[in-house]
Amino acid sequence: APALSCAELKALVRTVPDFPAPGIQFRDITTLIADGPGLAATIAHLAGRVEASGADMVAGMEARGFIFGAAVAARLGIGFLPVRKPGKLPVETMGVDYALEYGADRLEIDPGAVRDGARIALVDDLIATGGTACASAALLRKAGAVVDHAFFVIDLPDLGGAQRLRAEDIGVDALMD
Ligand code: PRP
Ligand code: ADE
Repeated sequence: APALSCAELKALVRTVPDFPAPGIQFRDITTLIADGPGLAATIAHLAGRVEASGADMVAGMEARGFIFGAAVAARLGIGFLPVRKPGKLPVETMGVDYALEYGADRLEIDPGAVRDGARIALVDDLIATGGTACASAALLRKAGAVVDHAFFVIDLPDLGGAQRLRAEDIGVDALMD
């Protein structure tokens, strides 16, 4: 088992009130990833769960999803697919517009990176409304992937994102609420 428990990891997450807008309690992973044992244990916990899901690729959402997703994929020896903010990929992309807790945005992928029938696990730091994860899953599915599991460091259960993902037949697992 990883050296630190999920409860110990939770103590490393910093809460910043009223960022980026009044009323938002921002759950900041900067303090978690600055801690060596904390970062290592976070990746170990996530990797164990992703491996058990049978995924053969990891997709991570820009930007914080890159930190965790790529480390998990490397640890498991499977590929990583970046789900990017608009205008960043140098090829013809597939894209989707979506809403999040504090705004709206767009995500894009390189459809050529998705092998038909690939079992792609989503990995991100946090699920709030689920807008980012649902949009990412829809995009990857449209490109031919099987997306049935999503993994997060943090779930904000009051925002209903996990329920929204489960309604799309995606299993949701988080290291902490
Ligand atoms: C944050 C977070 C998730 C998303 C969760 O990313 O990293 O990707 O919001 O919110 P949701 O469940 O309501 O969609 P953000 O878009 O702030 O971008 P960042 O990773 O570049 O900081
Ligand atoms: N992304 C969406 N909502 C968030 C929150 N409350 N804290 C950190 N990241 C977020």
